[in-house]
Amino acid sequence: MENLMDKVVSLAKRRGFIFPGSEIYGGLGGTWDYGPAGALLKKNLKDSWWKDLVQLRGDIVGVDAAIMMNPKAWEASGHTQAFVDPLVECKLCHERYRADHADEIALHEKKHKGKTVDWTEPRQFNLLVRAYLGVVEGAQSEIFLRGEITNGAQVNFKNVLDSTRVKIPFGVAQIGKAFRNEITPGNFTFRSREFEQMEVQFYIKPEEKEGKKWFDYWKKNRMAWYVGLGMSKKNLRFRDHADDERAHYARAATDIEYKTPWGWQEFMGIHHRGDYDLARHQQYSKVDLRYRDPYTGEAYLPWDIETSAGVDRSILFLLIDAYHEEGERVVLKLHRTLAPYKVAVFPLLANKPQLVEKAREIYDTLKPHYMVAWDERGNIGKRYFAQDEIGTPYCVTVDFESVEDKKVTVRDRDTMRQERFDINELIDYLQQKLRL
Ligand code: GAP
Repeated sequence: MENLMDKVVSLAKRRGFIFPGSEIYGGLGGTWDYGPAGALLKKNLKDSWWKDLVQLRGDIVGVDAAIMMNPKAWEASGHTQAFVDPLVECKLCHERYRADHADEIALHEKKHKGKTVDWTEPRQFNLLVRAYLGVVEGAQSEIFLRGEITNGAQVNFKNVLDSTRVKIPFGVAQIGKAFRNEITPGNFTFRSREFEQMEVQFYIKPEEKEGKKWFDYWKKNRMAWYVGLGMSKKNLRFRDHADDERAHYARAATDIEYKTPWGWQEFMGIHHRGDYDLARHQQYSKVDLRYRDPYTGEAYLPWDIETSAGVDRSILFLLIDAYHEEGERVVLKLHRTLAPYKVAVFPLLANKPQLVEKAREIYDTLKPHYMVAWDERGNIGKRYFAQDEIGTPYCVTVDFESVEDKKVTVRDRDTMRQERFDINELIDYLQQKLRL
């Protein structure tokens, strides 16, 4: 019996959500490409995140910083020194693993059945991906691809203060790519070498009470957001980091974890970064990064409560959570705001011009509002099942009666109920159902 993960990976490939990176060349470990359905799902997730945090709130502004930064920024943020994982090598076959991933080590040892497996002593392996910039061969400068998107927000703290009217407490939101030379990428997109993050750096007064208040606030806020997107509560939990596992910048850290088919795993992190980043960037850049309170005139370095989520990891967990089998049919019960296509339109028969024409009219009318799929192949049952697999909430069919009575059949993905609707009322009906 295929397990859930195999089914999700296979559906993701078959229906155009996620493909292995550079597949025709044999792939590139830890990289993934999003197909037509996946690119839409990813865009909807990021738009929904942005809407929730930037558009609907008054206290968070967005930035979109460069991936390539002056290498001093990475020295200042501590990444050149401390962005490391402990690496061990199997002395039998020279495969490398993370010393702190006991399950992967045990699995590897099983492969050498009957033999004693010796490992090298753990050594600290830096995860930053290096690149070379410049046009003169041999005189290029080494830079780093960002290992987390955070630095781009931190180095623009003063620019944001000077160009907007934000007042503490306020946040800086950003979505973008990050790169890590992961020792063992794996579990599909879960641990990749190129991935995307969605983060808010939320700056507050540097007081213990404020720190605790906002740390708790953001934990609850982020959990509620995922639950609001339809994720099953029983598959989500908080896990506080122990003192010895916190990142070098964090005073406190809690993960939201998801119950995957291979156990509870980190979904996203909430980190109390204190004034670590601003203090270090102030020290290394020699630019005054203090915030001046507009009422009291007091100048201080604020503390930062960060929420950091992986876009790709969210997509993976949303796919796993949404995957349902109901008898013969496979249905992705994705939240309507995330579904790649909101509606699919079908003419009952492809070779009846009056049906195709009417269906095209409806398709063209709906298209300006959201992504609409078109399908005229095979029988209606197969078309419904194909849309169920990519999570399309509604299917609209134009049949022979539609030409006479100006009504269409609307079929609901989750209940499979079919209702006849007046074509003139269709947009209002769908708009209300989809509440976009
Ligand atoms: N700025 C804080 C930060 O980057 P992190 O816990 O290292 O913290 C935050 O990463 C989130 O980014 C993780 O919870 C996960 O969702 C995602 N992430 C981290 N490494 C990843 C990887 N190798 N592949 C996919 N997603 C990753």
